[in-house]
Amino acid sequence: MYKLEIKNLLKVFKIYTRGGLEIKGYSDINFEVKKGEFVSLFGPSGMGKSSILKALYRTYTSSKGEILFSRESGEVVDIATCSESTMLELRKNEIGYVSQFLQVLPRISAVDVVANSLIEKGESENVAIEKSKEMLDYLSIKEELFDVSPLTFSGGEQQRVNIAKGIIAPKSVLLLDEPTASLDKANTMKVIEKLKEIKKQDVAMVGIFHDMEAMNAISDRVYNIKDKKYADYN
Ligand SMILES: Nc1ncnc2c1ncn2[C@@H]1O[C@H](COP(=O)(O)OP(=O)(O)O)[C@@H](O)[C@H]1O
Ligand SMILES: [Mg+2]
Repeated sequence: MYKLEIKNLLKVFKIYTRGGLEIKGYSDINFEVKKGEFVSLFGPSGMGKSSILKALYRTYTSSKGEILFSRESGEVVDIATCSESTMLELRKNEIGYVSQFLQVLPRISAVDVVANSLIEKGESENVAIEKSKEMLDYLSIKEELFDVSPLTFSGGEQQRVNIAKGIIAPKSVLLLDEPTASLDKANTMKVIEKLKEIKKQDVAMVGIFHDMEAMNAISDRVYNIKDKKYADYN
């Protein structure tokens, strides 16, 4: 039983400001992810990895194909075609997305940015703040920065806050677009350790990595979007 099943996914970008000019995004994408499994998307830059992840979160619509999400009840929802209200519900309760860059409102402290993910999931404020401090500390964010807005942080610090925010309260599916791109080896491996813990919680994950060592350390399977097949692996 798959948590996510992607079938014959295809995307053509239409640029309406250029008279409907069509740009090929990707085609013939077929892969699946089970609960507690990590599947990485691999392929050259510009091949459509980020766009596929955005299609799974429905930031981008799909031109063709299916993205079948299975609920715990057994009900299957096709993310490629479901209603906007179903999609809002899925993003709220089922699917998390860690983008490459932190996007936050101004004047909200790093701790509050992270704690909010837990509070949204029903955690009490005190516990949420305590757990968020632990997570930030684990990811080597200095304590003196906890109460500062992450908008003033360095690129690497922002990315660590972004990861903390994205992984502290995992839902049933987690999508990760180069979450460790601007981190050093030590912090990259710390993130990988956290992702391993999340895997044990039965979360189905799809990720993109720059760093092959990180990709190999976490992936159960690697889907090559150029060859359109799983890489020989394990
Ligand atoms: N919103 C968009 N409109 C038009 N073209 C896009 C859009 N988003 C991505 N693309 C194009 O889709 C292709 C794949 O991009 P992307 O998914 O970012 O690749 P990757 O993550 O593998 O580097 C690129 O040629 C890119 O220019
Ligand atoms: Mg990308």
